[in-house]
Amino acid sequence: MQVVKTISQFRQLRQPVTGSVGFVPTMGYLHKGHLSLVRQARAENSTVVASIFVNPTQFAPAEDFRSYPRDFDRDLALLGKEKTDIVFAPSEEEMYPATFSTWVDVEKVTERLEGACRPGHFRGVATVVTKLFNIVQPTRAYFGQKDAQQALVIKRIVADLNMNTEIVVIPTVRESDGLAMSSRNTYLNPKERQAATVLFKALSLARRLRQDSEKDAEEIRQQMASLILKEPLAQIEYVSIADAETLEELKIIDRQALALLAVRIGKTRLIDNMLLD
Ligand code: PAF
Repeated sequence: MQVVKTISQFRQLRQPVTGSVGFVPTMGYLHKGHLSLVRQARAENSTVVASIFVNPTQFAPAEDFRSYPRDFDRDLALLGKEKTDIVFAPSEEEMYPATFSTWVDVEKVTERLEGACRPGHFRGVATVVTKLFNIVQPTRAYFGQKDAQQALVIKRIVADLNMNTEIVVIPTVRESDGLAMSSRNTYLNPKERQAATVLFKALSLARRLRQDSEKDAEEIRQQMASLILKEPLAQIEYVSIADAETLEELKIIDRQALALLAVRIGKTRLIDNMLLD
């Protein structure tokens, strides 16, 4: 496995590669969710590239950029075990030199849910992913279903900017009690960790209601919200039943629907989602 920190070093390694390149962009502090993306990339491509870059532009000033967990050596060991070929781990200055002034702004799908709660977040994600795709030139890029809105935003960029990369979305990897794997789970103390299972419980309730033929989206939202509110450590940011493609809120479930949640458990903001059909 080769580890490179500059764009020019990466390009030197990339240039002779002729077969397919599978790319897993990450912010590091890898967990089993990331590793499932790397495994799928390994199974489908002749070369596997992962990036580790905690992207400052997708964090608002009051968010957790400084405290975001980092463990570069552990990440490299895990990527090595999964037979990653190249790790691209640029510095902040490499990605955003002082002259940097071009941004990628995706409309519509970024306007609700995460986009509404975290202004500027998707502009940072869209910009860094576009830059990474330009550097890595991947055949396929792998993202987790846990960040469902992010995956839709990236699909939009690829379609709108005519990028020659296939976006592969991999199912959410969960702990045995249903909590979606996330680097931010490390912020939870034992009581909060227990309380955090309420997200999966609420999503499972939504799916059960839908399977029992409930079509009224508001009824499902309300039942999810009242289940979450029974957990004293939980504070709801949003509970959504939305069109799985556009993320528009539904009144009646008459197409593929996604239940999505953002909930604070203590100070930790967690998101999760589940397809209802
Ligand atoms: O999902 C993430 O870890 C990040 O948003 C990404 C895609 C690596 C961009 O910084």
